[in-house]
Parts: sequence; structure tokens; C-alpha cells
Amino acid sequence: MKNNKKIYIETYGCQMNFSDSEIVASILKENGYEYTDDLTSAGIIFVNTCSIRENAEDRVRKRLHYFKSLRKKNPGLLIGLLGCMADRTKTALMDDEQLLDLVAGPDSYRHLPQLLEQVGTGRRAIDTILSVDETYADITPVRLDSNGVSAFISIMRGCENYCSYCVVPSTRGQERSRDAASIVRETRDLFDRGYREVTLLGQNVNSYAWKSGNDTINFSDLLRQVAAVNPLMRIRFATSHPKDISDDLLHAIADNHNLCKAIHLPVQSGSNHMLDLMNRKYTREQYQERIEAIRRIIPGCTISTDIIAGFCDEAEEDHRDTLSLMEWVGYDAAYMFKYSERPQTLAADTLKDNIPEEVKDRRLTEIINLQQKLSLANNLSDVGKTFEVLVEGRSKRSENQYFGRNSQNKVAVFTKTASGPGEYVTVRITGATSATLLGEVI
Ligand code: SAH
Ligand code: SF4
Ligand code: F3S
Repeated sequence: MKNNKKIYIETYGCQMNFSDSEIVASILKENGYEYTDDLTSAGIIFVNTCSIRENAEDRVRKRLHYFKSLRKKNPGLLIGLLGCMADRTKTALMDDEQLLDLVAGPDSYRHLPQLLEQVGTGRRAIDTILSVDETYADITPVRLDSNGVSAFISIMRGCENYCSYCVVPSTRGQERSRDAASIVRETRDLFDRGYREVTLLGQNVNSYAWKSGNDTINFSDLLRQVAAVNPLMRIRFATSHPKDISDDLLHAIADNHNLCKAIHLPVQSGSNHMLDLMNRKYTREQYQERIEAIRRIIPGCTISTDIIAGFCDEAEEDHRDTLSLMEWVGYDAAYMFKYSERPQTLAADTLKDNIPEEVKDRRLTEIINLQQKLSLANNLSDVGKTFEVLVEGRSKRSENQYFGRNSQNKVAVFTKTASGPGEYVTVRITGATSATLLGEVI
């Protein structure tokens, strides 16, 4: 198996990590390596990791032990760790547990070819230095696991918001924006290759800023530029921070048909006491004001969120504030988590993770049950409406059905038509579950 240059990449965590794996594949391809989606034929395994919650790290650790066991059959197999766990766990996983040949952090992917050579000559291959300006702007990602219809584009890296619970500022470093022209170019290139939807990615896209001559291109400017690439190219983005989602941005979305009418606006908690301890820099009332602005400026826009249950000192009353805010907004969808203390965060250093596990569990269950109810009610209210749906592929449940999304980011399933993936169809909604709309093409 020596000199087997086939690379298998397994990715955990957020969309940014998936986008990074495509950059890694591109860098390695340029250097004579070949991507494979078949683990058994690979000579090199990369695991692109996430540190956001403890269970995310545990999952990766288990996987690494499994990969190590493959070396019995395949002695030349190289195992490398990428992403957010790199700096935090390199000593434990490489030196103590002997699970790794190589470690590269999120800003070191250009060095992967050298690092792989170092492994070949028996030298330690670790690079977890974070950069202030790396954006991989010039690299055209190799699209992995692609449906050929939708793709991710990273527009920023890092985060400096320092929400007290969050490990990202320490794993991904300083916030920096990518050259606007390179983002527009990548969008155009994707359109030419048949893609019809891009999602612009950053931890807080609202603070996007690129200096071009004397002008600064902000996020609304960028969205307008990307929207102008082609009216048939849909644009989504994530994530917006509630503290700086501007009316200008909402107007840009309202004014452009291809800027999707779906906003992900993580609230984390409905309690002002929690929001303060979380260092989120907005109050419940300010958040509500932004929701009202979305409803006013973009009628019909769906709103989704992230919620953390059982953060430090969370009283029953704080939890009820979260439930009541969820009802008030009537979220269309939510990602819901139990608080997990992370090392090197403000909360780990200054607050106590003092909510018992069973209380966290119960609160999370109440939050999930409420969201289920809200999602179902919202989806049922779509019955009878018609939407423009971008076909993504065949439905998992049935050979004879396609699925796709409407602008509001809801999945619709409908009987196959002559228009296939990458094409738009008009669908009348005839039924709904809490997760899916069912409809017929008209
Ligand atoms: N930058 C984005 C999201 C980043 S992480 C934002 O600010 O919204 C995605 C979600 O994971 C967060 O919104 C939060 O809800 C959750 N999360 C982050 N750290 C966490 C922790 N320590 N425990 C539990 N959930 C966490
Ligand atoms: Fe983490 Fe807050 Fe940055 Fe999001 S905005 S990545 S939650 S620090
Ligand atoms: Fe995880 Fe890093 Fe993303 S910690 S959520 S992979 S930025």
C-alpha cells in the first residue's frame, strides 16, 4: 500500500467544515493526490473534525480508533486530523494515544502536501497555526458528495464574537472576509456548471467587509452582486447574528427574487439573564424587534434558529422565557442543543456548568416538542399554497418522487415530472408533516 495516493475525507461539524473539505480535496488534487469515496481503497484518511460540543469530539475519537484498527490489514495507511479539534487535541491524540500521523488546523491546508511528505520521511507533521489573512480565495473547491445543484461558498473565516459558551473563536481564530470578486467568480463558475443554488457561509455573515479601493463592500452589497450573477441562481446564507442583521440586508432580500426568503437567526435563549451570561450582545426585546423587521420587510420569510438548553445558572423561569419566545416567533425550524462546557471558553473559565444533566434533558425535550408543534403548524398553513421549487433529486422514500426546496428552505416531495434536478417546478402543497411538504406539480 506504500505510495497509495488515494485520499478519503470524513467530515464532521458545520457546513464550513464541509466546505473546507472541498478545499482540502482541491489542494491535494493539485499536488498529485486523488480523492476517493471508498474507504477501503484509501492510502490516506483525513478526518475533518468539530469541537463544538463534547459529544462531537467523542464521536471523532471513536472513529479514529476504528481507523487505527484498519492499519492491521493496511500497514501503510496514514491517518490525519484536520479542523477544529486539531490544536486542542493534538498532543493527546498524536502522542498519548498514537492515533495520528498528521495534524493540520483550519488555516494550514495549503501545507498539507509538505506535511504529507514530512510523514513520509518520518518527521512530525503538525501545523495548527492560525492565520490572520488566509481565506483560500484562489482555490476552486472540488465538489464532494455533490448533487450538482447546490453548493457551499465560504465567504469568511474565524469569529471574534466570543459568545461565552463557544469554542469557535479559539479553534478558528480571527474573523476575516474573502475577496468579493472571487466569491462572485466562484458563483458564476458554479452556475456555468449547472448549479442553481449557493449558500454563502460564515460564522457571522452580517459582519462581512471587503475593502475594494476606497469602498467597502458589506454583506448586503455582496448579496446584491452575487444575486446579479443570474436570476436562476438561488442564494442562501448562514449564519446571521441577531445583533447586526440590518434593514439594508432585509431590503436586499426583499428586492431580489433569487435571494431566498429564509433567515437563520440563532437566538440561543429567550431570557435576558442568559443572553447576558452568553455574551450575545442583544436582549430578548432587541431580538423581537429584528423579527418584526423581517416580518415587515420580507412577508412570507421563514425564520429558523439555534437554541441551547441548560446553560449555566439557567433557572426554570429562564427556560420558560425560551419557550415563550419560541411561541412568539413561531419558528419554522430549529437546531436544539444541550449546553456542553468547552475548554478555553469564557463560560468554562468564569461560570459554573451547574444545571443537572436530567434537568438539561427535560428542558431540551420540552424545547424539541414545542418546536415539533410549531413546525407542523407552519407547514400545515402552507397547504393550498403554491411555491417555486428547485428540484434536487429523487426522494429517498419513493422511486417515483422528486424532492426539492422552496425559497423558504422547506423540503417539498412531489411526483416525478419531466423537469429534473437543477430545474424549477411549480408545486401546489396538498399535505404536510412537521418536516416535509407534500405536493403536486402544476
Ligand atoms: N456562528 C453561529 C453558529 C455556530 S455553532 C452563530 O453564532 O449562530 C452552531 C450552534 O451550536 C450555535 O448557534 C449554538 O446553538 C450551538 N453551540 C455552540 N456552542 C455550544 C455549546 N458549548 N454547547 C451547546 N451548544 C453549543
Ligand atoms: Fe460561536 Fe458566537 Fe461566533 Fe457563533 S457568533 S461562532 S456562537 S462565538
Ligand atoms: Fe464545529 Fe468548528 Fe464548525 S467547532 S461547528 S466545525 S467551526
